[in-house]
Amino acid sequence: MSPRIVAIDGPAAAGKGTLARRLAAHFGLPYLDTGLLYRAVGRRVLDAGADPADPGAAAAAARALRPADLERGDLRGPAADAAASAVASIPAVRAALLDFQRNFGRDHGAVLDGRDIGTVIFPDAPAKLYVTASVAERGRRRWAELVAKGVPADLATVTEEVRQRDAIDAARAAAPMRPADDAQLLDTTTLDADAAFARALELLAGRLPGRAE
Ligand code: DC
Repeated sequence: MSPRIVAIDGPAAAGKGTLARRLAAHFGLPYLDTGLLYRAVGRRVLDAGADPADPGAAAAAARALRPADLERGDLRGPAADAAASAVASIPAVRAALLDFQRNFGRDHGAVLDGRDIGTVIFPDAPAKLYVTASVAERGRRRWAELVAKGVPADLATVTEEVRQRDAIDAARAAAPMRPADDAQLLDTTTLDADAAFARALELLAGRLPGRAE
């Protein structure tokens, strides 16, 4: 494994994606949003008219996944969120996506964000963050994203959906969302994107060999 892996895990809308993208640019590493893999699998299952909770249909969709699927414009929103969470709890889906994630970072290093990067995909990563925020704040952020896109949304409903999805992601048997024992915690409830980035650099200082920080 490349020693230059940054693993970023945590619940929905905690600020992982924004932070991971900035860290990737800072360290000169490629970035993979692994949630997109599960979203794209969920979409394929929906396209096939099947149930995302059906292990056979979901595993077939995961094995058929192509890079172009990650470019689709319909991978966000409540239906895609729910389908992604459902397929993500199926062990055969996770197994089918494992090599892609490991290969992505193996040779040159990478920043990856998800739920199990520090626990399952790259347990030996030298740099691990677990990014969280209160459920109220994460609901508000997800709601604001939808409103900014012109999607009508109700704050209480969106917050409840975030809470339910986290509960499913944390309770599932297959690679449940949890901090790795050696992850550093970063709570972004009261931090904006700049402050979260600054704090992340402090937490990761000295952990990535091979390049000045
Ligand atoms: O990070 P996100 O909201 O795009 O993730 C979509 C779903 O996929 C979410 O329910 C958690 C799941 N997921 C996962 O189980 N493991 C990952 N590494 C990334 C996402």
